[in-house]
Amino acid sequence: MSEYILFEWDEEFNTGIPEIDNQHKALVGLLNSLFNLLREGKARNEVSEALNQLTAYSEVHFKTEEAFFIQYSYPETETHIACHNAFIDKIDSFRDQMTGSNLTLSIDVFKYLKLWLQEHILGEDMKYRDYFKEQGITV
Ligand code: FEO
Repeated sequence: MSEYILFEWDEEFNTGIPEIDNQHKALVGLLNSLFNLLREGKARNEVSEALNQLTAYSEVHFKTEEAFFIQYSYPETETHIACHNAFIDKIDSFRDQMTGSNLTLSIDVFKYLKLWLQEHILGEDMKYRDYFKEQGITV
């Protein structure tokens, strides 16, 4: 079965901050992989492992951004961190849905994850990109 690209990377998602862009691309890759594992009906341990990887890497990425916010006194730090925490909570709730023999994550879950990532990168993440630019901060 050929791989389905749920979230196709596009230049518009680039912040111009290499570490952040690389992490975003990795996150998108993990999301696409998870989607394909479920689509192909893979075993629970593989799906579960992919979901764990997506969660763990989201946390790594969010911590990277949050460290920059603190280092450079980003004024919207609290709001942004709240968005990150809400995303992690949402993934945890999806994991809870996969109980017993139910391995299904509905298409709505993937629509949510994809849309959240796209809107978050284009919205909240671009705000700190612009702030860093305005302040002459190079990270
Ligand atoms: Fe790139 Fe705020 O997550």
